[in-house]
Parts: sequence; C-alpha cells; structure tokens
Amino acid sequence: MIPWFGDLSAFRRDPLEFFLQRGIAAKEPFVKLAMGFAPVYLVTDPAYIKPIMKASEDTIDKGRLIQKLRNIIGQSSMVLSGDRHRERRAVIHQQLARGLASTYIPQISAIIRHHAALLAREQVFDAHAATAPLALRMTSMILFGSRALSPGDENMLVEAVHMVEDDLAADMFKIVPDLPWVRRRKKQRLQEGRQMMSLVISRARSKAAESSLLRALQTLNLSEEELNDEVLLLFLAGHHTSGTAAAWLLYHLAANDSLCNAIAHEARSVSDDTGEIRLDMLKNATLSLAAGRETLRLFPSAYWLSREAKQPVELAGRKFKRGTSFLMSAWHLHRDPRYWDRPDEFDVSRAHMKNPAYIPFGAGPRACVGMGVGLLELQLLALEMAASLEFKDVSPFPAPPPKPSVTLIPPQIRIEVGLRQTVKTAAVA
Ligand code: HEM
Repeated sequence: MIPWFGDLSAFRRDPLEFFLQRGIAAKEPFVKLAMGFAPVYLVTDPAYIKPIMKASEDTIDKGRLIQKLRNIIGQSSMVLSGDRHRERRAVIHQQLARGLASTYIPQISAIIRHHAALLAREQVFDAHAATAPLALRMTSMILFGSRALSPGDENMLVEAVHMVEDDLAADMFKIVPDLPWVRRRKKQRLQEGRQMMSLVISRARSKAAESSLLRALQTLNLSEEELNDEVLLLFLAGHHTSGTAAAWLLYHLAANDSLCNAIAHEARSVSDDTGEIRLDMLKNATLSLAAGRETLRLFPSAYWLSREAKQPVELAGRKFKRGTSFLMSAWHLHRDPRYWDRPDEFDVSRAHMKNPAYIPFGAGPRACVGMGVGLLELQLLALEMAASLEFKDVSPFPAPPPKPSVTLIPPQIRIEVGLRQTVKTAAVA
C-alpha cells in the first residue's frame, strides 16, 4: 500500500520535476498521489480539465489548498464562492474590459517605453529585476490609475511580496506542523508583509483616479477590510504573474534575433506615424501575441491549480469521493510530448488556443479574470521592447530552470542591450 505521505517529500523537493515525471509517465487520466489523508489526484489528461474547471461550484470548487492563501489575501474573491464571488468578479471583469477597450493600450505602452529607455541607459540588467517593477507599475496603473505609487512605495511592495511568498509556497502541503518558534517567526513575517502592503495600498487609495479599478470596487459597499483584501488579491495576482512571465519573454527575445526583428517590424506595422501603437491595429499583431502565449506555455506563472470535490463525482468511469483534491499542473500539461511536438522548444507557430492542454489562465468560472490584461501586457512588452532595443547578449544560455514558489521565479539572467539602430537614427533626425 502507498504510504499516505509517500509523495510529499518528492513534491516539496522539486515540484516541477515531480509534476513532469508523474504526469508524463501516467497511463491513467487520474494519478493518485500520496500527499495526505484526503485523496489527491493529478489530472494528466487534458480532456478532463474542462469538466473539472467548469463543473458547478456545488459539485467541484476551489478547495482547502487555496484556503491556505487566506493568510495573505484574506476574504477576497479568489477564496470566496457563490454570490459574493460572482458579484465582485463581475465588477472587476467589467472594469478591466472597459479599460482594455479604451485606455490600457496607450498607458501600458507608455510605461513599457519608459522602462525600455531606462534599460537602454543601463545597458546590462537582470531580466526579472527589470520586469518586476515594470509589472508593478502596470498593475498599479490598472488598480489606482497612473502615478498613484511613489518609487519608494513600489520598492516596499516588492520587498513585502518577497517576505511572504516563500513561506506561502512551503506551507501549501505541510503535514508536519512547524516548531513553535518557526511558526512564530513565519507569522510575524506574514503580518509584517501584509502590513507593508496595506500601508502602501492605503496611500495609493487616496490618490486613485476616478476611472480606476479601485473606484469600481468601492461601488460594492465592502467593508474597509474586505476592500483592502480585494485590492491585495488583485495586486498580487496581477503583478507577480505578469512580472515573472515578462522576464521569460525578454529572455526569449534576447535569445532569438530573428524573432525580435520580426516583432520590431510588426510593431512598426501596427503603429501610427508618430510611432504610437494604434488601438484598431493591435489585433493584427499576431506574432507578438503568439510570443506572449508561447512564453506562458513554457513558463506558466501559475504552474499548478487545484479543485476539490464538494460531493461524490464520477469522471472517466471512476468515482471520486467528497473531499478529493484534483491537481492540474500547467507545467506538466504544457510540456507533455503527447500533447505538444518538441515540447521544450520555444515555437511561436503553435496553435495554443486549439490545444486543450494549454491552461495558463485556468478555465471556467474561476479562470483568470485578468487574462486579457495579462496577455496585453506581454504583447505590448514584446512590441515595445523589440521596437526600442537591440539585444546584444544573454547569459547564461540556456537559462537554468525557474524556482518554483507561489509563481515560477526566473533565475538570474543577464541581458545586454543597446538602442535599436532605427530608433537612434529617428531620434537624431
Ligand atoms: C500573465 C499574467 C497572468 C497569469 C498567467 C494569471 C494566471 C491566473 C490563473 C491560472 C488563475 C486561476 C487560478 C485557478 O483557477 O485556480 C488566475 C486567477 C486570477 N487572476 Fe490571474 N493571471 C495573470 C494576470 C492577472 C492580472 C493582470 C490580474 C488583475 C489585474 C489577475 C487577477 C486574477 C484574479 C482576481 C484571479 C481570481 C479569479 C477568481 O477566482 O474568480 N491576473 N490567474
């Protein structure tokens, strides 16, 4: 008989390798994992992803694993269900859709362009050290409007996220309780991290623009604490995912001259005479969008998701009892050779959206509500960076694997850039 906890140490040692090995070797659509007293299954066949993710929430919903995030995102919509979840999600969704249709493209482009100029001045930088503050600025613009965060507050937020995320990731499948002093230290770190985030958010709230997501959330009549939790969720879910994916996108641009040149060309073809990207033309920028999607295939920021059966369910002719957890790992599904040709190669010609094994944003009623924004940020990053910069060197190449934490943290990747020649000429003229 498999011991109850037999898989835990392999998972905790290297979750990416664990998901990949167990997933690729699987002969069954559901692989039983020994990760505790309650049953846990890894879903290895994409045919069952949608039935699980799209099931009604009284059958299958977010489960006890996501509840561990309550320590940090409190009573926010990611951990809520039913009407309270739907009501908040609808407001967020509507506000993000409005921004996508009207303001985000010029505002995000401007933020990225400014950042590209800073990188050109620096000439050599670390990929994630460059994209983390960039993502922060983009998320802050969406949440509060432009310039609501001071540079000092931005640094404080980055620090606060660092303080809490490793503990959160480590606690996900903890069976043996921490020793009392370790528990105390962690609790203190978490409280301090949360306090730092709340402090910065309260300062940004006072400067929030009328058209910001924060103002839309204020129409919901939430308590102060609920509003704070919701903003924290959006802030964390929005910036860390995009920031880590953006680092990998820069890496691939830097490592692939012809792709970068083709995207620079695409940027020109969708821009007006002054070099600004045109809202009505962006839909033609399919290469930059594919580069964003392919980055998320190889490096899905949310590399595993979970759901829990709220009542007995039957899938693939098998019965699963109430309380069963289903784990779905984008890291495995995006790299399984049964579902992708040459899975380890970065290839922008893939038909991502036709492949049921592609789940970087999840699926169903709990799919990422910021999916449109996240993709737009990556697409604009590719367009603006390729249009402004010439990538001269990237090392190490190939890059080592990411560090799996709450998201996939990129390793140190040194990138060397200069201003793209055509831009230099235009500026001199
Ligand atoms: C590349 C960027 C992003 C990636 C890869 C990503 C990924 C995901 C995934 C996989 C989920 C679903 C988790 C699950 O099903 O259990 C999710 C949920 C969520 N994401 Fe994102 N996300 C990104 C950007 C954003 C942005 C920009 C925002 C907001 C500004 C955002 C806000 C949220 C929220 C609020 C949820 C919870 C949705 C709910 O439970 O109803 N995300 N994200």
